[in-house]
Amino acid sequence: MANAVVRVISGNFLTAQPVGIVDGIDFMHSGLVRRVDAATVRRTIDGGSIVLLSPFGFSPTGEAFNLAMEDVATSTAVALQADKLLFVTEVPGIREKPDDPESEIDTELALVDARRLLAQMPAHDQPGNGAFYLRQCVRACEAGVERSHILPYAVDGAILQEVFTHDGIGTMVVDEKLETLREAGPDDVGSILALIEPFERDGTLVKRGRTEIERDIGNYTVIEHDGVIFGCAALYPYPEAHTGEMAALTVSPNVQGQGDGERLLKRVEQRARAADLGSIFVLTTRTMHWFIKHGFEQVDADWLPEARKRKYNWDRRSQVLVKKLA
Ligand SMILES: CC(C)(COP(=O)(O)OP(=O)(O)OC[C@H]1O[C@@H](n2cnc3c(N)ncnc32)[C@H](O)[C@@H]1OP(=O)(O)O)[C@@H](O)C(=O)NCCC(=O)NCCS
Repeated sequence: MANAVVRVISGNFLTAQPVGIVDGIDFMHSGLVRRVDAATVRRTIDGGSIVLLSPFGFSPTGEAFNLAMEDVATSTAVALQADKLLFVTEVPGIREKPDDPESEIDTELALVDARRLLAQMPAHDQPGNGAFYLRQCVRACEAGVERSHILPYAVDGAILQEVFTHDGIGTMVVDEKLETLREAGPDDVGSILALIEPFERDGTLVKRGRTEIERDIGNYTVIEHDGVIFGCAALYPYPEAHTGEMAALTVSPNVQGQGDGERLLKRVEQRARAADLGSIFVLTTRTMHWFIKHGFEQVDADWLPEARKRKYNWDRRSQVLVKKLA
């Protein structure tokens, strides 16, 4: 860092208000964030400086208040409409079963699931427990911050691992508009057919007739925007082999490259985990690299569950890729 100039600027960016008297207890100089001067924060950042906010604010009448730093972080992220809010904390993330310390860390939580988990957690939370940070993430997400993360400070390089590896290491709460990513119903059959048909014609996807899709519609997940379906994927479980096939993953060509393929994959993974499957697999002739980039590994066709092997089209010579689910 020799000769590097890092400008860090603090200032009166925060206005505070007293917590006041709650249930008969006077919180004295403990305060809440009343307002963040987002325009000045933004101007300072645009000028090439880092803004450092201390958990300390003044009321318009000049009284000083001690603020919770998490409240400062969330309020600022909301005021700036930040893309991301990261909490580097004493907790490793949010566990799938909050009361079971052995259960896995949920690496991605849709806002609706985060709210549900929060409802099961103790209401009187303190810094140092997961619920406390989860509440902040939900608040940020509800107010327009798309992604909030809870990361462990005990892990070296936690932020880099979270941001630059596919699954990350902590928990990310995402404001996934549920009306856009949902399970398919009988009314979606026509749209799914229209979506996959061009890829069936050019041989990227195996042909599936209307009857087959109608029969299996419950296996499909779709992405919908303004009533138009522009992405789909199906999960065919093979519970006896503790795995499931992801099939018909398709995103409409005019919206490819915007992360929808990945969102569909994540949802299929969630559905597979919910069905207690240990892995998902795909058969592909052209899209192998996309799957490898998303954590799949190539295996021999012999790996396939017996029931699927019988249907394997040896002429098509599809490659089989598997992703283990944590
Ligand atoms: C594969 C598919 C679902 C990805 O959807 P998407 O919404 O574009 O995916 P994402 O936005 O999450 O990912 C886009 C990234 O994948 C890359 N990608 C897309 N198709 C790829 C392919 N066939 N091989 C390797 N990488 C590919 C893009 O270049 C882009 O890379 P970047 O992020 O480095 O720019 C979409 O390309 C598709 O519908 N393809 C046709 C059907 C198909 O092949 N389905 C799989 C059947 S097995």
